[in-house]
Amino acid sequence: MKVLSLFGTRPEGIKMAPLVQALADAEGVQSIVCTTGQHRQMLDQVLQLFDIRVDHDLDVMLPGQTLNGLFARLMGRVDALLEEVQPDCVLVHGDTSTATACSLAAFHRRIPIGHVEAGLRTGDLSQPFPEEMNRRVVDVMGNWLFAPTLASRANLLQENLQGRIHVTGNTVIDALELALRKLDARPELSASLAARYPWLDASRKLVLVTGHRRENFGAGFQQICAGLARLAQRDDVQIVYPVHLNPQVRNVVIGSLSEHANIYLIDPLDYLDFVWFMRRAYLILTDSGGVQEEAPHLGKPVLVMRDTTERPEAVSAGTVRLVGTDSTRIVQAVGSFIDDAALYQRVARSVNPYGDGQASARIIAALQGRPFVEFNPQSVTAPR
Ligand code: UD1
Ligand code: UDP
Repeated sequence: MKVLSLFGTRPEGIKMAPLVQALADAEGVQSIVCTTGQHRQMLDQVLQLFDIRVDHDLDVMLPGQTLNGLFARLMGRVDALLEEVQPDCVLVHGDTSTATACSLAAFHRRIPIGHVEAGLRTGDLSQPFPEEMNRRVVDVMGNWLFAPTLASRANLLQENLQGRIHVTGNTVIDALELALRKLDARPELSASLAARYPWLDASRKLVLVTGHRRENFGAGFQQICAGLARLAQRDDVQIVYPVHLNPQVRNVVIGSLSEHANIYLIDPLDYLDFVWFMRRAYLILTDSGGVQEEAPHLGKPVLVMRDTTERPEAVSAGTVRLVGTDSTRIVQAVGSFIDDAALYQRVARSVNPYGDGQASARIIAALQGRPFVEFNPQSVTAPR
């Protein structure tokens, strides 16, 4: 079976890495790896960390790329690749332009599609934009829908997509566990990471921030920055924000926050460094999807700077809270976690509704038509 894995952004790289590693060792599988290069620097560090050998690089990224320009470049280059490789199936991930364009190109050529991380929904096409549209379209075309959780399976059933759904857990937990094992196996690695960031102040509570969503561009980011500037006035916190490389994000964030002594704006962190930072953080403020899944596994409270989420599981479990982008609400929410130790202790407990580290193995079994036990969060006995 010739399996072509296609991915291009940082989160896709992280979440496809364990699957690509497992495919390389799977009997009866010829694994071919293609990165579209939708992200250049942010993806390349992931490939290095997970030691992924790339067979094809479509190199589509342009600085400041538009959605339509990106999509058009993707369609042409992926089509030529499919003609050359003639795969038995393609694997795509999530809700990016890469996933959507690659699926559509495969669909036009009647090549079966496996969708990793299928069935996530907010129910609102404008949030996240354009990802909610992307993920729905890919699911309609998919032949194997790898739903990470029971909630994502329920979303797919509501759309009459039964018969092709497999509940696997999310491969992000496979990736996070690989990173944690690497850190734990080599204490000198953590020591060298600590030496890389000598300005970290152990006497202050670390608030780790990420933000990049298109629907927050403009007023949303201005509010987020205003909230961070107010939070930075507290002398019991230290704010660290690895700023996404998108110029629409960087211009606003660096323009409005670079003068604050208590806000450390740094370049996007390599995945291992970011995992190390998440572990060290007191709490995390984010609009990222993947971070909402990883932080609960590490027992870190997450405040999500969005009005809706496609990841309701950790919200129900209590470790993730939606706070939107209003600056006052952000300041109050972070303040309540810092000032109320009992609240913090209630929320900062390890729950892991997203996976057990076996998602990649289940996906490969499903592709090969072998029986396997679906992911059941009740059976996760030892979250971190
Ligand atoms: C994309 C995904 C989004 C995902 C996010 C993860 C789509 C529609 N959106 O959004 O779902 O959450 O990636 O980060 O696919 N850039 C660089 N170097 C990099 C990466 C980005 O310079 O390594 C800059 C470029 O100027 C690029 C811009 O960031 O034009 C935006 O990248 P793009 O992939 O178009 O959108 P994201 O906002 O990153
Ligand atoms: N991440 C990283 N370095 C950073 C910020 C995030 O490696 O500086 C990781 C994070 O752990 C998660 C993924 O990137 O696995 C999330 O990517 P992003 O927030 O760009 O996209 P989303 O998950 O929102 O699609």
